[in-house]
Amino acid sequence: MMSSCRVCGSSAMVPVLSLGEQPLANHLLTAPDLSDEEDLYPLDLLYCESCTLVQLGASVPPSDLFDEYAYFSSQSQTMIRSGQTLAERLTRDPSVEDWFVVEVASNDGYLLQQYRSNGIAVLGVDPAANVVQVARERGVPTLCEYFSEDIGRRIATDYRPANIIHANNVIAHVPDPVDLLKGIGALLREDGLAVIEFPWVARLIDRTAFDTIYHEHLFYYSLTSFQNAVRAAGLYCTDVEEIDLHGGSLRVFLRRQQEEEVPNLRRVLEYERERGLTSLSGYQLLQQKVHSSIELLENEIDSIVGDGGTVAGYGAAAKATVLLNAAPRAADAVTFVVDSTPYKQGRFLPGVRIPIYPPEHLMMAMPTHTLILAWNFADEIMSKESEYIERGGRFFVPLPEPQYVTRGESR
Ligand code: TMP
Ligand code: ZN
Repeated sequence: MMSSCRVCGSSAMVPVLSLGEQPLANHLLTAPDLSDEEDLYPLDLLYCESCTLVQLGASVPPSDLFDEYAYFSSQSQTMIRSGQTLAERLTRDPSVEDWFVVEVASNDGYLLQQYRSNGIAVLGVDPAANVVQVARERGVPTLCEYFSEDIGRRIATDYRPANIIHANNVIAHVPDPVDLLKGIGALLREDGLAVIEFPWVARLIDRTAFDTIYHEHLFYYSLTSFQNAVRAAGLYCTDVEEIDLHGGSLRVFLRRQQEEEVPNLRRVLEYERERGLTSLSGYQLLQQKVHSSIELLENEIDSIVGDGGTVAGYGAAAKATVLLNAAPRAADAVTFVVDSTPYKQGRFLPGVRIPIYPPEHLMMAMPTHTLILAWNFADEIMSKESEYIERGGRFFVPLPEPQYVTRGESR
């Protein structure tokens, strides 16, 4: 069990949720793996009373987690579109052709490609060799490294300081976020802008989205706790907006200098205070809410099966592993999961060992019900699978309680 906060060092850490012992959510199993026992690690959340940050208890060494990565951002049109819109917005500047844009945790290069197609110099940094290879093949130069203060300095020297630095869905995953932020500070031009996105803990609480809690995901930030880390790195939050990715994320803009008017920041910080997210009170009911969400899901699935129905899952996301391992009666009923990522097909979800097939399998097997495990992409998935719906198949999402969905009303 962790004894002190990874960001501020305080030992005033209070447990707020335990999900028991769980396998690594993205370590999909191959058929030969099925003959081995799986390693399980405790999955517990702690609240830091000093800097308000919510974080995992024990941690798993990062090399066990990220050297090969099953997550390819380009599997989702929603992600690609979000990247396009953002890049277009940020490049409305006359000097843009001379810019240098860096992305930390650039994955398969889907975001940098938007800049590159406008003739802007880009560099990606990502530790997972398999996604780096895909990025390079599509023409996005990428260093295969863990980003840090050292790497930030080195890129500033070997290349040049960056006009824009993106870091999407990484600040919650690295063991030392302040070091990553210092690296951003070291690489950013004096007038540069850093754009950081992460899932917002407020939305985790709203949805009881405990399935977004897994070993790779060390931190569950509010703007308040994120700002504390940013300050520790000598940077400033200058603006914030809520975006509709991963069930509700914050996109925070950082600069090397403080700016005067920050109404959006003040509004979100105030909202968090009102919600109790800057004290223990906002997290105290979580354990109880998680138990009742699991119970409701298992009851719904029992009743589907009791009525002679069959159940499949859609999306072999990390959250699928977490949800199904926490809800064994649901996992027993889910006979297979489909996913569009070729890497995942033919493998098995860890722990519950449910097989993963290509999406076409859904129409072949025609289960009466399909649980959208990747509920953050429910609309995109349902629009692809309209034929399944026309033939009588029913989609439902799991949290905070099972809900039947049709296109356009999944949120
Ligand atoms: P994520 O929730 O961690 O982003 O993972 C989403 C998973 O869902 C990922 O493995 C890809 C899969 N997926 C599909 O299979 N079909 C789709 O249409 C979309 C958007 C995602
Ligand atoms: Zn702390």
